[in-house]
Amino acid sequence: MSSKNSKGIIPDTVIIHANELVTLNSKFGVPRIGKAMKELAIINDGALAIKDGKIVFVGTTNELMNAVKINEKTIQIDATNKLVTPGFVDPHVHLIFAGSRENELTMKLAGKTYLEILEAGGGILKTVKETRKATIEELVENGKNILNKMLKHGTTTVEAKSGYGLSTKDEIKSLEAVRVLDKQHPIDLVPTFLGAHAIPPEFKGRTDEYVDLVISEMLPKVAEKGLAEFCDVFCEKGIFSIDQTRKILLAAKNLGIKMIIHIDEIVDTNGAALAAELKAVQTGHLLQSNDTGLKAMAKAGVIAILLPGTPFCLMMKDYAPARKMIEYGIPVAIATDLNPNCWTESMLMTIVLSCYNMKMSPAEALTAATINAACAIQRENEIGSLEVGKKADIAIFEVPNYYFLSYQFGINLVSKVIKNGKIVVEN
Ligand code: NIG
Ligand code: FE
Repeated sequence: MSSKNSKGIIPDTVIIHANELVTLNSKFGVPRIGKAMKELAIINDGALAIKDGKIVFVGTTNELMNAVKINEKTIQIDATNKLVTPGFVDPHVHLIFAGSRENELTMKLAGKTYLEILEAGGGILKTVKETRKATIEELVENGKNILNKMLKHGTTTVEAKSGYGLSTKDEIKSLEAVRVLDKQHPIDLVPTFLGAHAIPPEFKGRTDEYVDLVISEMLPKVAEKGLAEFCDVFCEKGIFSIDQTRKILLAAKNLGIKMIIHIDEIVDTNGAALAAELKAVQTGHLLQSNDTGLKAMAKAGVIAILLPGTPFCLMMKDYAPARKMIEYGIPVAIATDLNPNCWTESMLMTIVLSCYNMKMSPAEALTAATINAACAIQRENEIGSLEVGKKADIAIFEVPNYYFLSYQFGINLVSKVIKNGKIVVEN
């Protein structure tokens, strides 16, 4: 665990006496697959030293005291009776939007489905109207409010999608808002272009023409300005077909933008097979994916991001078959899917839903929220575990062990959050 070269280091900050320090050490595999998802690599009476924003030592408190030099300037955090984990990584977030849709709960209670609400001009399309009207400053302000809450709940890195502009100008505006937020906010953002999130009203009945606009105008502009690392598509019956999705993602790939897909959320359109064929980095939802597709995904190493907040908000009886996916050897991550339909900033809530509604174990859910989530945005060399050389992105919880994250729900269990070595939250 310890760094061989730590002797003599004077750390800026140390954490000592953690009842449990969950390291998620990479010796159990990156990403963690199958049974390895249960291996948290916990150190009791754990300790960790930070210098210049990076982790320089991990071990027991005794080992740390012998390994590094603490002086009067070193900040000492006593984590007695507390749990210490890597900061959460939220790898699927619809960060940029204006307005809200609290009125839709009444429609859902009356039995309206997600696609019925969308077809009636609600859902994504209502948010598109409001996002188009918003200035970049307003979008930044909304995004900041969301990120502040995420940070308070222990999240230190977030994937951030556009997708409520649906015109070249408004998609660029959304991604520029992500860029501003990344500079201004302690949370690190990974930008994703989701121009193919819905068919905008002016293209109703002309989806192919909209796909052409995404490919010939939006994607080249996004690439030219360097605004997105990933491209995502909402591949779903009545939204974008398998062929349209493939076309968009291959065009993105040609421009050096990596592939993500929303698949098989409401209907199985064989999205999992497409994800495997394209070797997409990650896919979201997968409630209805068929076994052949899932097995192909396992073989291709595509990460499944499960988003249990969404079926919860849509009052669906089905959740993604997490147990089967883990058994098949798919690397599983979890995310909030924060959006105006499913508005939660809390990975703690997501962990609880993963355990109670998808039957993941508390250890699997924590793995899915940290190291596997880091893999889903290709940041596994920097974050997602507490290991020497990684960023000091750390969450400290007011609970004695990791089981509590899945057990005590509906409140914020975070005591402190450290981002790049600095204490940014003290609850
Ligand atoms: O992942 N399903 C597509 N997109 C989002 C929801 C967007 C919305 O309803 O505003 C999702 O759940
Ligand atoms: Fe989503």
